[in-house]
Amino acid sequence: MKALILAGGEGTRLRPITHTSAKQLVPVANKPILYYAIESVAAAGIAEVGIVVGDTAPEIEAAVGDGSAFGVSVTYVRQEAPLGLAHAVLVARDFLGDDDFVMYLGDNLLQRGVDALVKDFASRPADVVASILLAKVPDPTRFGVAELDDGGQVVRLVEKPATPPSDLALVGVYLFGPRVHDAVAAITPSARGELEITDAIQWLIDNGHTVQSQVLDGWWIDTGKLTPLLEANRLVLETVERRIDGFVDDAATVEGRVVIEAGAEVRASLVRGPAVIGAGTRIVGSYVGPFTSIAPGCEIADSEIEHSVVLEGSRIAGVARIADSLIGREAEVVRAEQGPKALRLMLGDHSRVDLP
Ligand code: G1P
Repeated sequence: MKALILAGGEGTRLRPITHTSAKQLVPVANKPILYYAIESVAAAGIAEVGIVVGDTAPEIEAAVGDGSAFGVSVTYVRQEAPLGLAHAVLVARDFLGDDDFVMYLGDNLLQRGVDALVKDFASRPADVVASILLAKVPDPTRFGVAELDDGGQVVRLVEKPATPPSDLALVGVYLFGPRVHDAVAAITPSARGELEITDAIQWLIDNGHTVQSQVLDGWWIDTGKLTPLLEANRLVLETVERRIDGFVDDAATVEGRVVIEAGAEVRASLVRGPAVIGAGTRIVGSYVGPFTSIAPGCEIADSEIEHSVVLEGSRIAGVARIADSLIGREAEVVRAEQGPKALRLMLGDHSRVDLP
């Protein structure tokens, strides 16, 4: 069994962060989302991992390397343009050979990992060529959606339907045998110009093959947008254990499950978990509330922030209160010492500011 992790795509729904960084490298609890995917296939005993990369290839390769840090061997597969998930399978043909594989979308996060799914697929009945994972969602129009017959068999899959046939969304983890290569070669681009994996799976069904499905146990998040990203951060932070390796002065209080990395400093502040504070970050005279991840090398001074993700090297000073926010690398949110009472902004393209 191999793994194919998809880390291409443009990440338009996470702009402006993705103007300068791959969406799969946005951190959740201070760890890139993509690392969770690699760790989860490694935990399932898979040693050969292909990562499909696009324009952000150099950044992904720099972050993941040869995979040895995760105990796997990584092969990078270049996808020249984001032409769809089935196109990614097409370009990965040499890497995949005729082996079974788990395809994992690099911006998806699953609570329970893929261990049980991989084991199940390895011992499947001979006629099963693919296995899909489904989750009940309130907004199926955002996803691929499955229609099951009375016996629970998948009969139809539609990509982002205007009128969804059910509330069962396709989770971004799929298991395939080699028959899928016939399917991805046979289908044609969808209305959005992509070779859809949904159509490839439908092709398998239409050609008389058995596609298994199971409803996911535990939570699943497609992190490609702000709200789900913050939700993923919240859910992962729920699992952190308290660990204080940095410096906390006598005037500071650190409550609950908080990670303060070595080299971080908390002075005259309240940090209320769950939260993580990255190495070298300084929190001074501030409140850092629950569900907040502050990356390394940041400074939070005389400010209040909660339920937010702050990326490396940013500075927040004199601002109360920031909530539900994603702040990019080396950004500054500061209160001006003088001048008119006005918002003075220098925002990147596709930024968004919500005023109270
Ligand atoms: C893709 C798939 C969709 C699936 C979703 C899961 O959508 O096309 O079927 O439900 O991933 O994350 P995308 O996020 O690429 O729009």
